[in-house]
Amino acid sequence: MVAPESQFQQTSPMAKHAVRNKPSSCLSDSFLFIGGAMVALLLVWTLWSSVNPNPYPNPSFGTIVNEAKTISASEVSNGRDCVINTQGANLRHDPPESTFYDDPQISYSIEKPVKNWDEKRKEWMKHHPSFAAGASERVLLVTGSQPSPCKNPMGDHLLLRFFKNKVDYCRIHGYDIFYNNVLLQPKMHTFWAKYPVVKAAMLAHPEAEWIWWVDSDALFTDMDFKLPLERYKEHNLVAHGWFHLVYEKKSWTSLNAGVFLIRNCQWSMDFMEAWAGMGPQSPDYEEWGRIQSRTFGDKLFPESDDQAALVYLILTGKHKWADRIYLEGEYYFEGYWLDIVGTLRNITEKYVELEGGERRLRRRHAEKVSESYGALMDHYLKEAGIGHGRDTLSRPFITHFTGCQPCSGDHNKMYSGESCWDGMQRALNFADNQVLRNFGFVHPDLLDSSLVTPLPFDSPA
Ligand SMILES: *[C@@H]1O[C@H](CO)[C@@H](O)[C@H](O)[C@H]1NC(C)=O
Repeated sequence: MVAPESQFQQTSPMAKHAVRNKPSSCLSDSFLFIGGAMVALLLVWTLWSSVNPNPYPNPSFGTIVNEAKTISASEVSNGRDCVINTQGANLRHDPPESTFYDDPQISYSIEKPVKNWDEKRKEWMKHHPSFAAGASERVLLVTGSQPSPCKNPMGDHLLLRFFKNKVDYCRIHGYDIFYNNVLLQPKMHTFWAKYPVVKAAMLAHPEAEWIWWVDSDALFTDMDFKLPLERYKEHNLVAHGWFHLVYEKKSWTSLNAGVFLIRNCQWSMDFMEAWAGMGPQSPDYEEWGRIQSRTFGDKLFPESDDQAALVYLILTGKHKWADRIYLEGEYYFEGYWLDIVGTLRNITEKYVELEGGERRLRRRHAEKVSESYGALMDHYLKEAGIGHGRDTLSRPFITHFTGCQPCSGDHNKMYSGESCWDGMQRALNFADNQVLRNFGFVHPDLLDSSLVTPLPFDSPA
């Protein structure tokens, strides 16, 4: 099914998000406390494991090839192990004590809701203390595309580049990533396909605090920017949008559901049950379509869709849902490509100017430490009076090619195909330049994807 013409037409008003101050019901204090206890445990365990380098020689794992083990910094160059896990998590330890994985009642399927997930997750974490450090900031990025080849001859190539961009971002920031390309619930196609994947990802990655869904046609155009997770500590779902448009305008485009961050917790399980309950696998699908059309005057197609469903849940579930939802409008948590691609040239010039004026920003460095150079650039941007808001000269965080349909090629008739493809090339190469830089190369022309030139030393002095 092709998304209807009016799908995802975004407005780009400037607005502050509503202030929210209710405490989160998911992330309890006891979890934080257990986290602290785990750090202590981990410390003991790490000390112990450096005495005994292979603490879990589990005989039942017959196919282990590498001796992956927790190591301390001084052990890094011992020359024997190619596999080193710098984050300290023990990837070979799964004790025999039973967890939710051993419960035959627990289902990965979207149709069978999981109950008491917070306790189950905590229990698993208790048995895997090496994952305690950094647990509250751990993010799993989830994305995906259709199971069959793209109709657009360029489509699969474009999807590969969009995926490469996400892999680059995750590698730089130490996030895991999962690409799905099968419909886990066959009836939940197009924009509904993500919910079964997000639910399964929650069960597959209990160590992750956040699941971050990013549509296949969205890309990172600021490789340095990190999610301000601290800002979302009282919330369980983050999407790009504005509460005042939800409540005052009752518009189904008052937010965008193509990129969202959802906390790995029971609230989210319940929310997704309600959210996905308006989807095509539900016996009430047609009725939900009618309800959405009645509720949103600007929605011009009859089928129930996930974005209208999200706005509807916010409108009708203030305490139950909306209080735990953060609509991010301060920076491009995701941004509409037509607002963005025309600004990339001036943004590039601004960064070149800042780098030209500060030698530390031009210093070559290992990709692994690029976060510290991102923080440095942030400092100089601030000094130049440039924040991360929209309509500034900072790099937009995520650019979303809504309406361009790279895979099917059935782009919205509002744009010419040319502007979609040119826009994607520009944005992809703009992002790639931030990555290639640490490999010593640059695309001199954002519209020529094949050409790179070596970066001179101390560039762009
Ligand atoms: C880029 O900068 C130039 C010169 O400052 C300005 O005239 C132009 O409007 C800017 N373009 C955009 C898209 O902001």
